[in-house]
Amino acid sequence: MYRLLVSLLLLFRVECLQLSNCNHTEVTLLRDTELLTTLTLRNCSLSHLENAFFVRFGHLLQMELQYSGLNDLEDFSLNGLARLQSLSLSHNNLSTLRSWSSEPLGALTSLDLSYNAFRRLRSQGFALFPQLQLLDLSSNQISEIDEETFHGLSHLKHLHLNGNLLQRIDGSSFQGLHRLASLSLQHNLIERIELDSFETNTHLRSLRLDQNLLTSLPFLSQRGLARLVHLNLSNNQVKSLEPLGFSKNFELQSLDLSYNKLINLTKEALSGLDSLERLNISHNSVESVHTDSLETLVSLLQIDVSYNQLSTLPETFFNANTQLEEIMFGHNLIGQLPPLALAHQSHLRLIQFTGNALTDVDFLQRLPASLNRLSLHVDLSSNRLRSIDLASLRQFRYLNLADNSFNCGWLIENLVRELPTSVNFARPWSVLNGWNDDFKNIKGVDCTEGDTNRSIILLNAAEVSQYKTSKCECAQTYDEANPSPPPLTWPKIPTDRFDSRSVIIWMLAAIALAFAGLRWLRRFVDRNEGRKGGMKALNNMYVDKGEWQPQRNNNEIHSPP
Ligand SMILES: *[C@@H]1O[C@H](CO)[C@@H](O)[C@H](O)[C@H]1NC(C)=O
Ligand SMILES: *[C@@H]1O[C@H](CO)[C@@H](O)[C@H](O)[C@H]1NC(C)=O
Ligand SMILES: *[C@@H]1O[C@H](CO)[C@@H](O)[C@H](O)[C@H]1NC(C)=O
Ligand SMILES: *[C@@H]1O[C@H](CO)[C@@H](O)[C@H](O)[C@H]1NC(C)=O
Ligand SMILES: *[C@@H]1O[C@H](CO)[C@@H](O)[C@H](O)[C@H]1NC(C)=O
Ligand SMILES: *[C@@H]1O[C@H](CO)[C@@H](O)[C@H](O)[C@H]1NC(C)=O
Ligand SMILES: *[C@@H]1O[C@H](CO)[C@@H](O)[C@H](O)[C@H]1NC(C)=O
Repeated sequence: MYRLLVSLLLLFRVECLQLSNCNHTEVTLLRDTELLTTLTLRNCSLSHLENAFFVRFGHLLQMELQYSGLNDLEDFSLNGLARLQSLSLSHNNLSTLRSWSSEPLGALTSLDLSYNAFRRLRSQGFALFPQLQLLDLSSNQISEIDEETFHGLSHLKHLHLNGNLLQRIDGSSFQGLHRLASLSLQHNLIERIELDSFETNTHLRSLRLDQNLLTSLPFLSQRGLARLVHLNLSNNQVKSLEPLGFSKNFELQSLDLSYNKLINLTKEALSGLDSLERLNISHNSVESVHTDSLETLVSLLQIDVSYNQLSTLPETFFNANTQLEEIMFGHNLIGQLPPLALAHQSHLRLIQFTGNALTDVDFLQRLPASLNRLSLHVDLSSNRLRSIDLASLRQFRYLNLADNSFNCGWLIENLVRELPTSVNFARPWSVLNGWNDDFKNIKGVDCTEGDTNRSIILLNAAEVSQYKTSKCECAQTYDEANPSPPPLTWPKIPTDRFDSRSVIIWMLAAIALAFAGLRWLRRFVDRNEGRKGGMKALNNMYVDKGEWQPQRNNNEIHSPP
């Protein structure tokens, strides 16, 4: 293989060489290596590289030596690579950092040492790579960073230390990295960050600390972090936010606090975040929010407080946040929103309150007139709505009302009217049945009649015709011992009375969600016959419960993007 490549190299004076599955001997036998500017060795067996191994490759600009079981490089293995700009030794087994050269690699700007076995970074370990801008040390086993490890890296912009075993960050760890713009520390075991840790990193724009063990965040108020734009603190153990804790981070645009242990938002917890556009507090245990906790967040565009324990929101909670586009409070315990809660929001594009306990939608009726309803997406699925006034909600781009406890009578009345396709009552059902795979994507609508939970199944008219049985012996009984396709007869409904694409069939299926004792579901609904005159009754349908097992799967409620 390599011979072929080498001949190509000779013929066309190729400047790039890529070898895989090669061995040490093959690499040393390569000819005309002076011409190469790019060398990629992958999956070769090169556990050891001796001094001056690359001396013949003096023109290399880029070198990758990955997945090659490299255990060690001798002290001067990289000698002669004076022009090298980018070096990757990732996915090897290196454990000791040395400079691997007697001269500085003065052109090297990018060094990738990820996925190796480094444990400790020693003082001045990178002194011979003075021009580095990107240093990737992710996915090693680094637990300690000696003082002055990054000494001299005054051009370094991106430092990746994610996926290591760091437990603490102190004042000396990143000292002197004046140009550092992004620092990745996610996925470590960091419990403590000393106050002055980022003091000299005054250009830091992005800091990732997600997936660590932080319990509090006092370091944020330090001078060094004043220019921070993106901060990710997701997946930590933060229980409370100190008052004014973010008061110096006035350039911060996105703050991710999801998956922490917050229980409340106090008045000044978020004070100072004047530029914040995206706030994520989802997956915490927030029970209460102070009326004014968002008061200074005048640039806020998106707020996600899903998966918390909120039971109510103060009426004036969003008053200062007049730019809001997306509000997400799904999976809380909110029973009622103050009618005027969103009365000042004229830029909304998404209102998401799925999985709460809402019983009315007054807050939607009170949206300001200036709001563009045609681009508004509203998700109120899985709440406790019984009946609502749909008239004013029909213009929304999308309104999801699936999985509520609508009154069956009310629901059918509204389903029969030509509802715009933007209003959805249905949730997907996985129906297990032995007789037709296509039936798996069936949709159902939940409703309650008295104390009984019912479901209405929606079928697409186009599909219906495929299942129509030629003979309609509707009264035929179903042989339980010998299951065969249940005798279904599809009703002949004048489709012109319906939305052209979907005809609604209420075959009806009494689905007490528990479902337990019911063996046979046979029920037939046509409440509309009298009213709608032209409609014909549905024929009886028999569905065997053993064959049809609707499975609730709330995650699958589909909504258009
Ligand atoms: C390296 O590979 C070549 C050709 O594939 C083979 O002839 C040679 O024996 C190998 N050398 C070693 C040390 O494995
Ligand atoms: C890597 O090399 C080994 C043998 O040396 C081979 O079995 C494996 O398939 C190679 N993998 C790739 C991705 O080339
Ligand atoms: C990786 O290096 C360590 C020593 O640092 C050695 O014990 C181990 O065997 C090496 N693993 C492989 C796969 O070469
Ligand atoms: C924060 O990190 C988590 C992973 O821990 C990731 O899923 C999330 O998207 C990040 N947040 C932002 C805003 O990038
Ligand atoms: C918020 O939580 C903190 C600590 O978790 C507690 O000390 C404080 O009293 C709480 N404040 C309110 C208003 O509930
Ligand atoms: C908030 O964080 C959660 C968990 O990381 C994530 O699933 C969700 O998409 C985030 N919200 C936004 C609006 O990005
Ligand atoms: C109807 O559904 C609700 C919520 O899903 C449930 O709490 C209630 O027990 C159900 N009622 C019956 C009679 O199954």
